[in-house]
Amino acid sequence: MGKNLIYVPQCHSTNDIAAQVVEQPSAHEGTVVITDAQTKGRGQMGNQWVTEPEKNLTFSLILYPSFVAPKDQFFLICAISLGLYDLLQTALNGHIFIKWPNDLMVNDKKVAGILIENQLKGNIIKHSIVGIGLNVNQERFNIPTATSMNQISGQQFDLSTILDDLLHQIEVRYLMLRNGKHQTLLNDYHNAMYWRNEMHAFSAASKKFYGKIIGVDEQGRLMVDCDGTVHHFTNKQVMFG
Ligand code: BTN
Repeated sequence: MGKNLIYVPQCHSTNDIAAQVVEQPSAHEGTVVITDAQTKGRGQMGNQWVTEPEKNLTFSLILYPSFVAPKDQFFLICAISLGLYDLLQTALNGHIFIKWPNDLMVNDKKVAGILIENQLKGNIIKHSIVGIGLNVNQERFNIPTATSMNQISGQQFDLSTILDDLLHQIEVRYLMLRNGKHQTLLNDYHNAMYWRNEMHAFSAASKKFYGKIIGVDEQGRLMVDCDGTVHHFTNKQVMFG
């Protein structure tokens, strides 16, 4: 991963550039498109991803996970989230969790987000563009729920070292996926889940309720136990808090 690296000083969104690159025959698996400054960074569910130029990692990774059936797409999310989780575990001291489906949390604040865009062809994933935003050296944020590795540790990090380490961790998890280690990925994901086995408030269909996350099902839906009944939610159906 990252042996083929395409650097652009500024762009709208690295996911958009990667979507053009992937159409070219030279787009090898593991190609990284990276920028110092995104002007129209995209987040999940139509949100924007806004970070300070030159302080953070904003990049997209091109993958060809043809060995993952479209019905198992959640395992790709698992592998990438765990790669980020493993990196953060080695780089930081703090309470690190994966907030379902793929936000990385440290000390209850979001430090990284992932936007995976899969292109399906028939019953295979033709290619996958994995966009990653990891807040590294940014010191201040406009939203109180965001943080960076610098805010947590007080340290400055070398961006290219963090990128190398992160790509290595993602590769390890991706190889587990390729080797069919779905159960190990799922177990590790469960153990890393934010709010798991704790009573918390959620909202669904504009109603607040209390429950305990017990895990994710095989389709990647969140399972919440409410008074002994287990509810399964897709990403759009439930909110934390
Ligand atoms: C989220 O948490 O909402 C996902 C954020 C993903 C942001 C990254 S930054 C690099 C890549 N390019 C984009 O436009 N988005 C992703």
